[in-house]
Amino acid sequence: MIQRAIVALLLLFPLAAPAADGAASRPPQAAIASANAQATDAGLEILAAGGNAFDAAVAVSATLGLVEPESSGLGGGGFFLLKRADGSEVFVDARERAPLAATRDMYLDAQGNPNRDQTVNGPLAAAIPGLPAGLVHVAAKYGRLPLSKSLAPAIRLAERGWLFGDKNITMMGWRRDILSKNAAAAKLFLPGGKVPAKGQRMRNPDYARVLRRLAAEGHDGFYRGPLAKQLVDGVRDGGGNWVLKDLAQYAVVERAPISFDYRGWRIVTAPPPSSGGAALAQIFHVLSGYDVAGMSRVGRVHLLTEAMRRAYRDRAIYLGDPDHVNIPVDLITSPAYAAGLRASIHLQKATPSDLLPGINAEPERPDTTHFSIIDTEGNLAAVTQTVNLPYGNAFVVPGTGFLLNNEMDDFSVKPGVPNAFGLVGEDANAIAPGKRPLSSMTPTLLLGADRTAVIGTPGGSRIITMVLLGLLELMDGKGAQDAANLPRFHHQYLPDVLSAEPGAFTEEEIAQLQARGHTVAPGERPWGNMQVVLWDRKASTVEAGTDPRWKGVGKGGAVNQVFQ
Ligand code: GLY
Repeated sequence: MIQRAIVALLLLFPLAAPAADGAASRPPQAAIASANAQATDAGLEILAAGGNAFDAAVAVSATLGLVEPESSGLGGGGFFLLKRADGSEVFVDARERAPLAATRDMYLDAQGNPNRDQTVNGPLAAAIPGLPAGLVHVAAKYGRLPLSKSLAPAIRLAERGWLFGDKNITMMGWRRDILSKNAAAAKLFLPGGKVPAKGQRMRNPDYARVLRRLAAEGHDGFYRGPLAKQLVDGVRDGGGNWVLKDLAQYAVVERAPISFDYRGWRIVTAPPPSSGGAALAQIFHVLSGYDVAGMSRVGRVHLLTEAMRRAYRDRAIYLGDPDHVNIPVDLITSPAYAAGLRASIHLQKATPSDLLPGINAEPERPDTTHFSIIDTEGNLAAVTQTVNLPYGNAFVVPGTGFLLNNEMDDFSVKPGVPNAFGLVGEDANAIAPGKRPLSSMTPTLLLGADRTAVIGTPGGSRIITMVLLGLLELMDGKGAQDAANLPRFHHQYLPDVLSAEPGAFTEEEIAQLQARGHTVAPGERPWGNMQVVLWDRKASTVEAGTDPRWKGVGKGGAVNQVFQ
């Protein structure tokens, strides 16, 4: 039986403490980076109580669902990419799936046009949640602690009240009107009809009750019995299409991660129904054919843009739920396929993305959330979870304490028509009963001789390129915070635009990229919320980097921890 001994108090980010025995075979400390300090603290508490990275992941996940209702929660889903200290790796797919009543054309009107209100607002937008099943599965199969312990910090926070913050307020600005139309959502998130003030204490006893039920009854506590009936009745009362069988049938799927090598590094990342891993593998295989280090900055940005363009094109054509469609993952992630792509890349001229009709992307809305964990045994957890757009579908079933998702919008509602992230898709991602919508969530591990990192971010379609740039930064020897700070650029095939954050390019670089044929949109509103932990074996340090774009909302933290 595992005994625990905690040898020191919690320390705040950033950390660079040497291991007590100088050994580099295990991380000297456990570390967590998440998008909300209340969630990081919940995870640190569980590590300090003898939990491993996977118990801490359960604690952080359940707490984020409470304190970041705009980003994820029990009404949504997520991906848990786990690596155990024994070397085994697994991708726990707790993605939502379409209700059994879903049909391919369910959102099209008589003229064949998508009804965007239905795909993003209210119960018809909601797929069947996967996160509760993910929490139960990860705790039971990979954790050391019972759910009653790993969920305790979230339960306590729900009962005593969590603190509303800047990010909750900003995101609510976009969804306030629609939230106010649902009485249960308004009661929870707009007390007195007003957006809560910064620092206002938010109690949510219903959320605590649901977590207690999960702890006591496990999977069936959510997916069968009175709570399942309450959810189905509430969704149907609101005009949705769930049936009890939808919940009873829901199960997480364990999948083999996508992994590949790049210049001495091993990257372990998300397989379908995420599009992230396939895109990353393709992009890195393309890069491996060039002397990237020897290129000018503009040459490198040009090459990355051309690789991104091609990867997002394949995303649109080939990717979907692997349990419903045949996806040529092995082919499109193979070095030979990348060689073919390289042959199509002109190193001085942009390739126009003119294979599908040109479309304008919606402005990027930060949504979803990611956290990264490493423990002192060397277990790694990269978790990205979501309710899709901010505050999901803005619909709460009375008495449950959580919003439902609007993940149905991640399907290709009508092939060739962009979703809320401006992403287009084809038949592989068409709606079908029980199918998982294609995701961009890309929790990722970077494994090298001297450095191990856990990385991920929200950001819709831009997740994949953010992770790409973060990985390149870490490979360049930069720190976890550097990877989170880095100004970002992005290309997703359509619209045919190279977007950039303020500071990503100089005026001179913009002019040179334009001369190569790129349409550059510099100075866009910053995007993403990257969370990184990094173990440097040589220096025997562990550090956590949290995205500075949401000033002071996220938190990296660490704890000294000894497992016996
Ligand atoms: N809902 C965002 C994603 O899964 O990519």
